[in-house]
Amino acid sequence: MKTKIVLSIETSCDETSAAVLTQDSSGIKILSNIVASSALLQSSYGGIIPEQAAREQIKSIIPVINEALSEAFPSQSFSTTNPPPIDSIAVTQGPGLIGSLLVGVETAKTLAMIWKKPLIPVNHLLGHFYANWISPNTPNHPDIPNFPCIGLLVSGGHTDLVLFTDHGKFQYLGGTRDDAAGECFDKCARLLNLPYPGGPEISKLAKEGNPKTFPLPRPMINSKDFDFSFSGLKTAVANLINQHTDIPIYLPAGRQGRSTDSLNDLCASIQQAIVDVLVKKTFDAAKKYGVKQIIIAGGVASNRTLSETIAYGNEIRLPRQARISIPPASLCTDNAAMIGAASFFEKPAKNLLGVQANPNLSLAY
Ligand code: KG4
Ligand code: ZN
Repeated sequence: MKTKIVLSIETSCDETSAAVLTQDSSGIKILSNIVASSALLQSSYGGIIPEQAAREQIKSIIPVINEALSEAFPSQSFSTTNPPPIDSIAVTQGPGLIGSLLVGVETAKTLAMIWKKPLIPVNHLLGHFYANWISPNTPNHPDIPNFPCIGLLVSGGHTDLVLFTDHGKFQYLGGTRDDAAGECFDKCARLLNLPYPGGPEISKLAKEGNPKTFPLPRPMINSKDFDFSFSGLKTAVANLINQHTDIPIYLPAGRQGRSTDSLNDLCASIQQAIVDVLVKKTFDAAKKYGVKQIIIAGGVASNRTLSETIAYGNEIRLPRQARISIPPASLCTDNAAMIGAASFFEKPAKNLLGVQANPNLSLAY
């Protein structure tokens, strides 16, 4: 198999990312994967302001692409008339914030035009799953997923269960009816005055807490479908905070006279409630479709309690254990490497100028 090289670009939300990847018979490897995030800036507003995120994308896009190219091809320089040695350009087409997406899509179209390279538009959600196809730096890496497999996508905007039977062949099984799993982490963290993004903050405090302290609901855990709902859990947490005034709401200066134990316990209880629903539904799907491979993706996939509960569920919920694939943490949150990996299995656009950012792209066709 001839080695293919792609330059990929991801700008769906508050991360600006560019990567260079290769694909050959030994698998897909990363030559560079640069991520600039405006999350810290967004954190000072308590969440993402779309216009602000788009302005940061504009500032970062060219420096980030330059850095990805110079890390992948050191001591070479490129210009409009001297393209890098790549076979194609891949870009996130959607879903995401329209202002942010436009920056990546229009940049990728321009580069594809001046460098005369094929442009491959990629669905961001598929991209998350394809982080599982990226090999670590060992030849013939054995852990590449097999089909059929159940995919669980858990990110800030999405909670989806998908049955994959081959590259490009998948069936959407279900998803959230309201808040996504990551959004639930973020909204609960906000109720506790924890910084954005809230998932990593809750999981940090949860390490010192007892998940059995607060009996929180596990919404839709026994519904017979593969849908999720997390907004009721957030409301239950809000009610709990109102009832239990002894739970310290985090303030940077700290609160006087209150135990931080109950905050840790509440974080552990929130995390376990979210994780229990995700794990139960994932194994229900694996059992129903008889798959022996499960792939997890998205920012919440880097949650340690999720991976531990999946490992335990694998022992007790299936007649024969499945293979579980979870990308390393750096490839769970938004990055361009996952978009490049997915692009190796997608077709280039026939009409370059017809590629448009689509904030509403989904997996549920
Ligand atoms: O995939 P991602 O980077 O962006 C989207 O496409 O949405 O996911 C971001 C989400 C945020 O909601 C963040 O709070 C959550 O992933 N997250 C986590 C952890 N790390 C990131 N949630 C729980 N535990 C974590 N360790
Ligand atoms: Zn994402």
